Amino acid sequence: MLSEKEKLESITSLGIELNQINDLDLLLERILSKARKWVNADAGSIYIREGKKLNFVYTQNDTLQSQLSEGEKQIYSTFTIPIDDKSIAGFVALTGQALNLSNVYSLPPDAPYHFSSEADDVSGYKTHTMLTVPLKTTEGYILGVLQIINAQGDNNEVIVFTKDDEKIMYYFAGIAAIAIDRAKLTRSIIMRMIKMTELHDPMETGAHANRVGSYSIEIYEKWARRRRIPREEIDEKRDILKMAAMLHDVGKIAISDKILKKPGRLTEEEFEIMKQHTVQGARLFLDKQSKFDEVAGIVALNHHERWDGGGRGYPGHVEVRTGEPVAGKTSNNGGAKPKKGEEIPLFGRIVALADVYDALSSARCYKEPFDEEKVLRILKEETGHQFDPELVGILLEIFDTIKSIRERYTSDN
Ligand SMILES: [Fe+2]
Ligand SMILES: [Fe+2]
Repeated sequence: MLSEKEKLESITSLGIELNQINDLDLLLERILSKARKWVNADAGSIYIREGKKLNFVYTQNDTLQSQLSEGEKQIYSTFTIPIDDKSIAGFVALTGQALNLSNVYSLPPDAPYHFSSEADDVSGYKTHTMLTVPLKTTEGYILGVLQIINAQGDNNEVIVFTKDDEKIMYYFAGIAAIAIDRAKLTRSIIMRMIKMTELHDPMETGAHANRVGSYSIEIYEKWARRRRIPREEIDEKRDILKMAAMLHDVGKIAISDKILKKPGRLTEEEFEIMKQHTVQGARLFLDKQSKFDEVAGIVALNHHERWDGGGRGYPGHVEVRTGEPVAGKTSNNGGAKPKKGEEIPLFGRIVALADVYDALSSARCYKEPFDEEKVLRILKEETGHQFDPELVGILLEIFDTIKSIRERYTSDN
């Protein structure tokens, strides 16, 4: 448990720390772990407001996590509840008041809300004490609800949340709300950029971008953990990679509709133009203002390279500014030499796999979604050819997580 001094120190740095995270999902993850640490809570969830409803978007549970093997993630499904006084989270979002409950299975008889034991019934977990606070901006707008569960005493026994916990969480939620507000703005700008791409290429939807972004950071995390890369570095890279991966095809903005929307096969000439979306995308981030620009450029440029350096990968060793082959890297036919193996930056290799996996398992204008067996067969066949074998191995290892992401992002949001 944190000491009073540690709490004071961490509250002063909290705003700064949270404002360094750009991606909304990763921000929620950090907010919940910090909140739980502060009041030593075993579990918790975050709901985000979507009009008149609350979306259950994120959850953590140490007890359930400890039952999994190392590095394995909890699978959960998202759902929506109305903002009304019938549920605990709905009541808090409706009234803007915090609720500190000493036993959710025995609520005050006059309380309008009730506790839904469904999640407990499914998981076998027992929710006991619960503190729910509104995520309220300085203007008083309620962005969502932060809920923490089962405060723990010195011997890990469940205890009631104190008045001090209530105050501290209320303050904490205010700082978190500001960071969420900012991350939502960043997210909406990225989603608009993707919508612009979608006008040219109807396959590049927000849902596809969300999935490719989410698959990519899961693959990266596993890869980085194997190499014992420090947690802070992993978190920072995940944040940048998520947005960069979402924008992998942003260069399609520069490619003509006639080519991208052509129903039949592209001619060789048309295909050459289409390939340029990689270089065009990288050019958008040439004026590097941040680490994000750098990574977004790498992903845009390298997401169609092949691990074996075979001729179908593109664009190869080119200068982003000119699109011409890098000096000394010209192939026999006068084009750029293909990149091969680790010449392709890691983030390019990761997004290449995530993008193709998603295309195979989704409906496209020219095909129905392939079933899981067929998708896995293709990925295995392409191991060491199109894809980095280590990354395919990782994708298969975390396949349950990958599938839960698929289910989460079925439509644009
Ligand atoms: Fe692409
Ligand atoms: Fe794509």
